[in-house]
Amino acid sequence: MSYLETTKNVYKEAALKPDVGLCCTTTPVWQLPGLSIPLKMQQMNYGCGSTVHPRDLVNEPNILYVGVGGGMELLQFAYFSRKKNGVIGVDVVDEMIEASGENFLQAEKENPWFKSEFVTLKKGDALNLPVESKSIDVAAQNCLFNIFKTEDLKKALTEMYRVLKPRGRLVLSDPICETNMPQNLMNDERLRALCLSGALSLKEYIKMITDVGFGTVEIRAKRPYRILDPAHYDTNELIYIESVEVCAIKDPMPEDGPCVFTGKTAIFYGKGEFFDDGKGHTLLQNQPLAICDKTANALKSLNRKDIFISNSTWFYDGGGCC
Ligand SMILES: C[S@@+](CC[C@H](N)C(=O)[O-])C[C@H]1O[C@@H](n2cnc3c(N)ncnc32)[C@H](O)[C@@H]1O
Repeated sequence: MSYLETTKNVYKEAALKPDVGLCCTTTPVWQLPGLSIPLKMQQMNYGCGSTVHPRDLVNEPNILYVGVGGGMELLQFAYFSRKKNGVIGVDVVDEMIEASGENFLQAEKENPWFKSEFVTLKKGDALNLPVESKSIDVAAQNCLFNIFKTEDLKKALTEMYRVLKPRGRLVLSDPICETNMPQNLMNDERLRALCLSGALSLKEYIKMITDVGFGTVEIRAKRPYRILDPAHYDTNELIYIESVEVCAIKDPMPEDGPCVFTGKTAIFYGKGEFFDDGKGHTLLQNQPLAICDKTANALKSLNRKDIFISNSTWFYDGGGCC
């Protein structure tokens, strides 16, 4: 059996019987006026962060969500889009589609504003999406892509890129790991399916995303996630796993490479009203300017004593140089 089959079996079980501890994080469940999330949907929250950001959801976007779980994030997306077929959910596990469908019916009872028809569920594979090219404004996945091995991850990201309109956004939430994951854990199909041993380093994760063509990447959050310790797992050292929330934008790829925003900010504190780097960045005297890592490196290389560059906050929340 391949690891993809093992993954399907793990989520068939998790669809038939909610597994409350699976993938859960410190991220609070969204509390919004008039939004009631059915209990079973909360118990089936198998994501490791949030992919729902109101600022991605202006102008009535068409939303695609891959790997639906109990449907909680689809309901949250529908809260903002509120239109028939506004959210398409794709999942490869029949039982998960069925369980989330039941959860949406319950959500309809608990939320006067919500209609099940706001969400269209489709059986399909992240590696071969049943979705038309260039038809989606916002695509999201939470805690699925980390399970995929390199070639499959590349396929899944390429599929997301294909279905997005130009300037469309891919919002991702996944575990990452800066310790080298031991090969035996990486090859443990069940651990991988449980989102515990497929994690890449953030640098590798970003490279996978930009390699398929996304010209802009935003790191929106980074949080502690799990510890794999020698007493409970087949490892000699402690492995620390974090979770990240990332937005990749289908912007054209800049000639000098992608813009990756990790929360760095430049502040000019020299003489004069501003500093202009001649490449489109104007730093006003003592005003913060969010910059991508590429620009941070370029400004640093000027060796000026009157420009401060902050470290990455891993909390980029809009604005920027490009
Ligand atoms: C870890 S759960 C995350 C569920 C949901 N995103 C959430 O945040 O609660 C992974 C989901 O992906 C689905 N899945 C697994 N393999 C898939 C594949 N190859 N294509 C599409 N969905 C898949 C599972 O059935 C499950 O619903």
